[in-house]
Amino acid sequence: MFKKILKIAGIVLGSVVALVALFYTKVYFSTEARINKRYDITARALPVAYDSASYELGGRLIVAKGCTDCHGEDLGGKIFVDDPALGLLVAKNLTYGKGGLPSSYDEYDWTLALKHGVRRNMKPLLFMPSHEFTRLTDQDLAAIISHASRVPNVDRELPENSLGPIGRILTDLDKLPLLPAEMINHQSTQVKLVKQEVSIDFGKYLSVACEGCHRSNMKGGAPVAPGFPVVADITSTGNPGKWTEEQFLNTLRTGHTPEGKQLNPKEMPWTMTKAYTDVELKALYVYLTSL
Ligand code: HEC
Ligand code: HEC
Repeated sequence: MFKKILKIAGIVLGSVVALVALFYTKVYFSTEARINKRYDITARALPVAYDSASYELGGRLIVAKGCTDCHGEDLGGKIFVDDPALGLLVAKNLTYGKGGLPSSYDEYDWTLALKHGVRRNMKPLLFMPSHEFTRLTDQDLAAIISHASRVPNVDRELPENSLGPIGRILTDLDKLPLLPAEMINHQSTQVKLVKQEVSIDFGKYLSVACEGCHRSNMKGGAPVAPGFPVVADITSTGNPGKWTEEQFLNTLRTGHTPEGKQLNPKEMPWTMTKAYTDVELKALYVYLTSL
């Protein structure tokens, strides 16, 4: 009797292990195929200018759009996720120093990365939020390239990206934005220039930088990745709906909320929103509280 139970238990356990292995094999090969896909894209040239005005605007935008949060203040790159289950995610050294971009990496390559989310060999970049950057105007993108391609060289050699089992499973279930190239309409036309003024339209344009976490309706929801906090509702039904414009500006510049909370810049990147102008923050306030 005991032997029989043991045998049945063995068969059940064996089948479970076999099923899990089968499932993971499927996940592994389907994510590998997506990571190694080569995109057939021709990028449109952007009006990159190397004058001081573009350099200055670009310098503000690389902070305001979060480039420095991931790639480091010197753009020399850094590891931003190191978790055996999720994976090792490394924001590349974007300078032309040791461990950085090759000296032949030109405007076209920058455009492919920012506008289309692919690298030189036309394979997709991992976890680089190009699906947001592709919605910036040509003027903003050009200024970013003008600045980012001319920062001082940083010698920093970093490991390659690698994906852990949970990272693969979440990607397979479309719960992790690992492959922004898949979320981009590569035929899309130019983004319409928005007038920089305190308006709902301009606020909406700027809110693309908040979408990755606060969702496209700005109502927040589940944490963006395991280990992160629940994302706040930042529309009229959330706390910002109760704040004055001044309190909103102050929160996004200092991370102190009127309720007395100190936001952690690793979770809510106010180090990024700190770089916004008064007009930009006021436009965001008008837009968010209109929702
Ligand atoms: C959420 C983090 C994150 C943010 C924000 C981010 N990046 Fe990245 N970026 C990455 C990661 C990760 C990679 C490496 C992807 C890979 O190698 O698969 C990358 C790669 C790149 C590359 C590609 C280099 C190559 O190998 O071709 C460029 C160019 C780049 N980023 C520029 C920028 C700029 C400019 C900004 C701001 C407008 C920015 N990134 C914002 C995470 C980020
Ligand atoms: C990387 C993810 C991420 C991005 C990008 C992001 N946020 Fe947040 N934000 C969060 C999280 C998570 C919280 C909640 C933090 C907490 O509860 O400690 C939060 C909280 C806030 C709060 C405070 C809400 C409250 O109830 O106290 C405001 C305001 C806010 N975000 C505005 C913005 C705006 C505006 C943008 C875009 C310009 C933005 N966030 C972009 C993740 C993000």
